[in-house]
Amino acid sequence: MEIASAGFPVRTRSQITAPSIAQRKGAPEPLVMVTAYDAPSARVVEAAEADMILVGDSLAMVVLGYDDTMQVTTEDMAHHVAAVARTKPKALIVGDLPWMSYHVDRAETVRNAATLVRAGAGAVKLEGGRKRLDSIQAILDAEIPVMGHIGLTPQSVLALGGFRVQGRQLDAAQRIVDDAMALVDAGCFAIVLECVPDGLARMVTDSVTVPTIGIGAGRHCDGQVLVYHDLLGMCDDARRAPKFVRQYADLEHSAVGAVSAFVADVRNGSFPSSSETYHMTDSMNQALDLYATNPK
Ligand code: KIV
Repeated sequence: MEIASAGFPVRTRSQITAPSIAQRKGAPEPLVMVTAYDAPSARVVEAAEADMILVGDSLAMVVLGYDDTMQVTTEDMAHHVAAVARTKPKALIVGDLPWMSYHVDRAETVRNAATLVRAGAGAVKLEGGRKRLDSIQAILDAEIPVMGHIGLTPQSVLALGGFRVQGRQLDAAQRIVDDAMALVDAGCFAIVLECVPDGLARMVTDSVTVPTIGIGAGRHCDGQVLVYHDLLGMCDDARRAPKFVRQYADLEHSAVGAVSAFVADVRNGSFPSSSETYHMTDSMNQALDLYATNPK
């Protein structure tokens, strides 16, 4: 084990790919995916040895300040995928295809998926079940691995009438199981299951041959994903975190404390101190004083 300069232990690990994720179906150690949107967050997620970095369209809310995910474009996503990719993580980078990037036609869908791959993604994710099979096939035909996403699909928030748990009724639960099986038949290498009851998540996980990655789907999935800003407590107080978020730090309040201390130090004159200042030699000071009183 090597020790990185920041003092964190780093295991040397090999590049994680979509096929290597697919092979971990049913492995005893669950898969871990965490979102990241820029180089600093990607470095943190990589140092923590997550298996996958999802450059999610949650970017819209947690980084860009929008109210929902429907405001981001393929260009926005590519910009942030590229920032993550520049850190060269071993974790698989999954680029989220935003709303309207895979809804129009096959050619546009493939071009948008390719834009994320050219920016550095090793796979793309898109939302929806059987009605997305055509888009998934087109992207797979271009040799780009696809991760599915069913259950609560935030890009459908208007059609769903809000962010709420999906699959509570029998027919809705059956549709989710059928969607999951169709995504696997189409060739998805993994499936995100968002906000579904744990019994349904277990049934889907037992029914499919690729890993399920849960968020608000209980403990029976093959892996778990959380949003970086949620788990670190970097959230707008107005945006209440859902109950499935476990918050491991309170960075928003720590950061406010640190910046407030800087503001106070500037105002009370204690910043910058002598040791935080570049000084001239005494002879240079004298020469400059002379010059200032008697310029050429
Ligand atoms: O965009 C995102 O962060 C996601 C996760 C919630 C799975 O899609």
